Amino acid sequence: MLFTATASIQPVFNKVIITSGPTLEPIDPIRFISNRSSGKTGFHLANEARKRGIAQIVFITGPTCFLPSEVNLIQVETARDMQAAINEHFTQADVVIMAAAVCDYSSAEYFPNKLKKNNDPLTLKMVKTPDILAELGRNKKKNQILVGFAAETENILLNAKNKLSNKNLDLLVLNEISLSNPAFGSEENQVFLLRPDGIKKMNKMDKARVAALVWDEIRDLSGQL
Ligand code: CTP
Repeated sequence: MLFTATASIQPVFNKVIITSGPTLEPIDPIRFISNRSSGKTGFHLANEARKRGIAQIVFITGPTCFLPSEVNLIQVETARDMQAAINEHFTQADVVIMAAAVCDYSSAEYFPNKLKKNNDPLTLKMVKTPDILAELGRNKKKNQILVGFAAETENILLNAKNKLSNKNLDLLVLNEISLSNPAFGSEENQVFLLRPDGIKKMNKMDKARVAALVWDEIRDLSGQL
């Protein structure tokens, strides 16, 4: 009789939260602040979670056309909406992957009517959005795995190490944003994977493969808990 090693294909996690895409912070009924995130990485992370048999995938995304199937899909716009949606599910989640490119600032004021132009320069006051990941890091339980992303253009490893420890993360996926690796909107990406116990530099590869490696790393981390 042939026995297969089922232990290696049993899903380790029951419920995961994956955030994706940009957030969109409105200024008036026409304008908003956002960023270049396409949502591809989050999409591939969700597909990979499904392939690995994870039962509950809560996919919380800002505006993007990359929407995975067979997930609990929650579409939001602002950082605050994203935070509220995460908080609904956080306590039961085994893993949270914050792949969303959350806007760090929003307009201090929402103008209910369209801002009309005149000849004066326009100054817009901006306020910080909540740092969702940092708050999750403060509240996370010992058995929860928290994964963050970082997009850096200078002092990349130093900034990333600080983010890993300041936000109390188990894993940080670092994108070096450069002309040769724009990351945002591309099919491929070159990332570093940082854990409290070390750093791995990965080759440039398509984003589906990056997603698989992130899940391998999460699985490996779960063995250490
Ligand atoms: N993030 C978040 N809430 C924010 C901003 C970012 O949860 N208001 C999360 C992102 O989803 C990502 C991680 O924090 O997983 C890193 O985001 P990044 O913008 O690179 O770093 P910041 O901590 O915002 O710092 P800075 O922009 O100064 O690099």
